[in-house]
Amino acid sequence: MSRVEHQCDVLIIGSGSAGMTLALKLDKQHQIMMLCKDEPQEGSSYYAQGGVAAVLDEYDSVESHIEDTLIAGAGLCHREVVEFTVSRSAGIIDWLVDLGVKFDTRTGEHGVEEFHLTREGGHSHRRVIHAADATGRQIVECLSDRLAQHDNVSVMPRYVAVDLITRDKIGLPGEDCIGAYALNLSTGEVELFRADHVVLATGGASKVYLYTSNPDTASGDGIAMAWRAGCRVGNLEFNQFHPTCLYHPDARSFLISEALRGEGARLVLPDGRRFMFDFDERGELAPRDIVARAIDHEMKRLGCECVYLDITHKGQAFIESHFPNIHARCLALGIDMTREPIPIVPAAHYTCGGIVTDTSGRTDLPRLYAVGEASFTGLHGANRMASNSLLECMVFAESAAQDINRQREMNATPVRMTTRIPSWDDSLVTNSDEDVIISHNWDELRRFMWDYVGIVRTDKRLQRARRRVQLLQQEVTEYYSNYRISSDLLELRNLIQVADLMIQCAIHRKESRGLHYTLDYPLPSANATDTVLTPPSYG
Ligand code: FAD
Ligand code: SIN
Repeated sequence: MSRVEHQCDVLIIGSGSAGMTLALKLDKQHQIMMLCKDEPQEGSSYYAQGGVAAVLDEYDSVESHIEDTLIAGAGLCHREVVEFTVSRSAGIIDWLVDLGVKFDTRTGEHGVEEFHLTREGGHSHRRVIHAADATGRQIVECLSDRLAQHDNVSVMPRYVAVDLITRDKIGLPGEDCIGAYALNLSTGEVELFRADHVVLATGGASKVYLYTSNPDTASGDGIAMAWRAGCRVGNLEFNQFHPTCLYHPDARSFLISEALRGEGARLVLPDGRRFMFDFDERGELAPRDIVARAIDHEMKRLGCECVYLDITHKGQAFIESHFPNIHARCLALGIDMTREPIPIVPAAHYTCGGIVTDTSGRTDLPRLYAVGEASFTGLHGANRMASNSLLECMVFAESAAQDINRQREMNATPVRMTTRIPSWDDSLVTNSDEDVIISHNWDELRRFMWDYVGIVRTDKRLQRARRRVQLLQQEVTEYYSNYRISSDLLELRNLIQVADLMIQCAIHRKESRGLHYTLDYPLPSANATDTVLTPPSYG
């Protein structure tokens, strides 16, 4: 039994753009601990390519960005949340620029240097500010440099949060979240973190699918932990498939940014024929759900393993200057995108649903917040518009920080100091000699999620997935109770939990809308409503 205990004012679980923004926006008087299960920069934020959507151009408007977001969201965006987010976009970009983020610029009409704005699907204006095709890296490196100057923040790599601690879960009155247990990967021990406020900034859950653009960190841990602690989750049937991931045996999760299509790249079949206008008048710049479904349809119709993205007509100089990283990566794999089309397939990319929060990131439990991709704020509706995610991460991290700062000013009584919290007890478990169960179940889960809960669904496929996930859940729960935990086991347990929630949400939705397309109900219903699930123990 580990007796290692830590204590802080704010425990942030996750060090992506959401977690780091929050840490930087909190008052310096707070003692902050930030856990990350890998190295601090590892997470989806680092790999973001296209950029951040923001209203920065004199010909653009907040109203237009709001309208485009609502259209992409297919009737399920919460308008007030869209307005809240978009109206803060320019302020967040100013903050990033002040911190030192270097976005691409160009010489404008009157010889004045201005930001280069690119375009992506669903946007009716050029409004995506970017740093070439590696915007996430530029932002994350800058945020983490700034964080290194804050003495009040301890970044703790290789700590995997296991579960949240709430007062009722340890037999005390009240539902306040007062900390978390986390596995220290360097020692193999589970340590106790007491905190006045806990923030889940753990990212999405696209690792639940066999093919994904996401890094390994995206295993839905925060969503599963919040659910187990008693929080509602919503709209998890809307997992976004990015239309264009590189199809190559050695680079399965490498994204080919939507900004290529924004700059004129064309989707073509193996015979070179362009096909997107057969599906939507916006062609390659239709929202992602439409483009991914069109590609899926054509691949199934022709029985081909991929289709192609062709940008050769833009010429070598343009391609190398706008997309240096994608160009270099493709070239290293033997694909010269200046001369030949890039083979692509859709892959799971973004979790639109998540932990239910308000615009301050507050969850159902007192003192527990969720920000970034782990949360369900109502911004994205049934389909996230490109580059609205980094924006959401930073806007909501800022408002959550403001809320926590306010609470401190009001001098709310810390609960953690006075509460006796038991240490993690693993005295009754042993080391497993059957780790193959973990890898086998992991593969099985990701494969049936891809086959049965993918781009095109049916009731039958969803029921099949439900039965399988329930079996896996039983097996893993038993394994979890008997054996010492590892990060693989924790991730599998969380992925199974989130897969179950995704399937429940999908079964619940008897219509096709945005990213949820089912052959049994191919049309949207007249009334659009969110799918919100409530944990059995809740209220
Ligand atoms: P992440 O950046 O994913 O960070 C999650 C953090 O949580 C990590 O530090 C991880 O270690 C930690 N963590 C997770 N579980 C635990 C645990 N149990 N214990 C401790 N720590 C934990 N969006 C845009 O708006 N524009 C783009 O151009 C864009 N491009 C993208 C390109 C790619 C390839 C991908 C994958 C996504 C892209 N997105 C883009 C989406 C966007 O990047 C993500 O939605 C966003 O970065 C999520 O940020 P986050 O801070 O919520 O989570
Ligand atoms: C991309 O560059 O295509 C990703 C943009 C996003 O996911 O918002």
